[in-house]
Amino acid sequence: MNVIEIINKKKNKMELTIKEIEFVIQGYLKDTIPDYQISALLMAVWFNGMNNNELANLTEIMARSGKIVNLSAIPGKKVDKHSTGGVGDKTTIALLPMVAAAGLSVPKISGRGLGHTGGTIDKLESISGFKTDLTIDRFIEIVKEIHCSIISTNFDLAPADKKLYALRDVTGTIDSIPLIASSIMSKKIAGGADALVLNVTFGSGAFLRKYMDAIQLGKEMVHIGENNHKQTYIVVSSMDQPLGFAVGNSLELQEAISLLNNQGPEDLMEICLFIGSIMLIAGGIVKQQKDGIEILKEVIENGQAFDKLKEMVKRQGGDQRQIENPELLPKSKYKDDIYSDFKGYIHKIDARSIGEASMLLGAGREQKNSTIDLSVGIILKKKKGDSVKKGEILATLHYNDHDKFEKVHDKVKSAFDIRNKKPAYKPLIVALIDRYGVRKPNLS
Ligand code: URA
Repeated sequence: MNVIEIINKKKNKMELTIKEIEFVIQGYLKDTIPDYQISALLMAVWFNGMNNNELANLTEIMARSGKIVNLSAIPGKKVDKHSTGGVGDKTTIALLPMVAAAGLSVPKISGRGLGHTGGTIDKLESISGFKTDLTIDRFIEIVKEIHCSIISTNFDLAPADKKLYALRDVTGTIDSIPLIASSIMSKKIAGGADALVLNVTFGSGAFLRKYMDAIQLGKEMVHIGENNHKQTYIVVSSMDQPLGFAVGNSLELQEAISLLNNQGPEDLMEICLFIGSIMLIAGGIVKQQKDGIEILKEVIENGQAFDKLKEMVKRQGGDQRQIENPELLPKSKYKDDIYSDFKGYIHKIDARSIGEASMLLGAGREQKNSTIDLSVGIILKKKKGDSVKKGEILATLHYNDHDKFEKVHDKVKSAFDIRNKKPAYKPLIVALIDRYGVRKPNLS
């Protein structure tokens, strides 16, 4: 087989066979095909896309390039949850204990954050002693005991994706829908769960800016999932302002704990109940979404979801006292407020700018190996649609370094778009996609 012929085929919009895809991926992993030829092929895919056959084959080959986690020792249906990411997205931390308290087993393998969005693993590492590099055997044992555990990808999970992703990152080929779909789904398939619930976000703080791209990505991931005999649901939601009020590792963890104490922000609660109820359907715990929502509200109200987080923290070596008393979590040395120069209504809070500002304060990584400051970040005091007076607080910055504060002050202030008229309401959750197609969310 000849790699130049394969590149030319894709360049001329022809379908690649499973053998050709396998040849390319194996050749790249073994270093017999160089970066520059793979880059050319990725760019041809960027322009010409991939059909459903190619997509299914590429994903499966990437998934099988490493270990496929065997979760069969855990009884019942195992459901995985994933988000394409966003600013202030602490959903996983709140959601896992909720659905686990409702009886669903959720073995969650998560990544660290890069760029303007934070990673679940980083947020959880705000808890002293919390270990995320458990062995797969210990991970499975914990899920068997308490229904949930979260570990980092500390083993060869879809190594072909890891290598390709690094190349896409430097060749302008990240934003290709088939390449994103196969990248995410290869890791989900290798993760071994029976069913998948994926939150695809769109808007300024998300990976994809446009609604139609989010729908397209969702459809492609459903196709790949179902093809691999994994029931797959996609929840499409908007990320045109940060989720909740807190952005930054320890601050986000505290907000997730508040939600489990039934004091969480409305938007975070809405998305947790929606995704959680779909997970309960996927796991066969309930048949209808409204029943799932009822159970999830109940486990928050009776404290079982909060207790579940404490159990998970204890089993993973973390200090439970910090969950009971979040004041004990890492705290920045300084706090300062940002004030509004205008009176009016908040029309928009540019999520990307807030995410970047939080990263510049030290909460996120600019490079893969950067160290992060778990204590810093931003607490929003206003959200879209709120009225604001001149001189009122828009946000509070938590920081440890005065130079960094100076750098981000104006960026945070200008992320707030304040106008005279109240903005029109736009829903947070806009679509649900499964094997039957795309539909508007309907809880009745
Ligand atoms: N997340 C992934 O895992 N892969 C992509 O390509 C994009 C987002």
